[in-house]
Amino acid sequence: MVCEEKMEVIKSIEPFVEKFISERMKDPEECWQPADFLPDFADPDFADKIQFLQASIANVPDSVLVSLVGNMITEEALPSYQTFFNLLKGVNEERNVASKGAWARWSRLWTAEENRHGDLLNKYLYLSGRVDMNSVEKSIQHLIHNGVELQTDADPYHGLIYTSFQERATKITHVNTGKLAYKSGDNFLAKICNVIAGEEALHEKAYKYFMGKIFESDPNGGLTAFVTMMKKKIIMPANLMDVGTENKNYLNYTNITQKIGVYTSHDYASIIDHLVKFWGIDKLIGLTGEGNKAQDYLSTLSDRYTKLAERMQAPTEAELIWLK
Ligand SMILES: [Fe+2]
Ligand SMILES: [Fe+2]
Repeated sequence: MVCEEKMEVIKSIEPFVEKFISERMKDPEECWQPADFLPDFADPDFADKIQFLQASIANVPDSVLVSLVGNMITEEALPSYQTFFNLLKGVNEERNVASKGAWARWSRLWTAEENRHGDLLNKYLYLSGRVDMNSVEKSIQHLIHNGVELQTDADPYHGLIYTSFQERATKITHVNTGKLAYKSGDNFLAKICNVIAGEEALHEKAYKYFMGKIFESDPNGGLTAFVTMMKKKIIMPANLMDVGTENKNYLNYTNITQKIGVYTSHDYASIIDHLVKFWGIDKLIGLTGEGNKAQDYLSTLSDRYTKLAERMQAPTEAELIWLK
């Protein structure tokens, strides 16, 4: 149950959401678009450009490509993310997708950016000629069919903890993919990954800022939500892509990202550490008994995850899926 107090806190943060939108989010006319990066079929030297693109990606290892495809599929499921956000209590009480309310507007601006990420990576991978697009498109369709279960129970505090964590995780994923692409000689892919990572960094900033406002107004509620989400564990948003199929694509994808160092258990631990420090969890005052307990729990949590990550075996099952 989401209590009245939480709803009021969410309402009171609206001016900060408005401020972030007006200060940090660009008008679509000023944003980059996927077409800015990709060869234009109408150009006379189109064929040369495609050849160049395919030559650049030629030395990118299959494992990196699988990981990139998985990242792209995740981006493509954005209808589910916009729905998820608007279903959080207090975010869109009008039940209007065109609502002028700050939270609802934020959800649209955010997912309109995610849309460009999916488009750019999808087109790039299509042009690379190395991906079995039909199997990739099926995974996208299955994922959107199945939706997302982020375990937030429509609680806006839970939702903001989740998105703060996940946007940082996504940023790390794109940054690391960019590094591997650069190492394999694909500067073009490296650039795309970095451009996308820059926007993930902005999303992370937004969600941490909004959640920070919750810690200011309702530290006990914020702490309880943080602990609840940490106990449930942050699952990647594409985890339902295989439901209704015989595939193990999600498992292979996550094992490969772990194996090649794109997103690992160490990253999971480092994100917890970062969020605990960023929100100054150990400095929160005026806490109830439950708040104090939550503070203690969170103060050692990243260390526990680091130890766990050190003991973890590298995943063995990592089939190269989605490729030609
Ligand atoms: Fe994205
Ligand atoms: Fe994002």
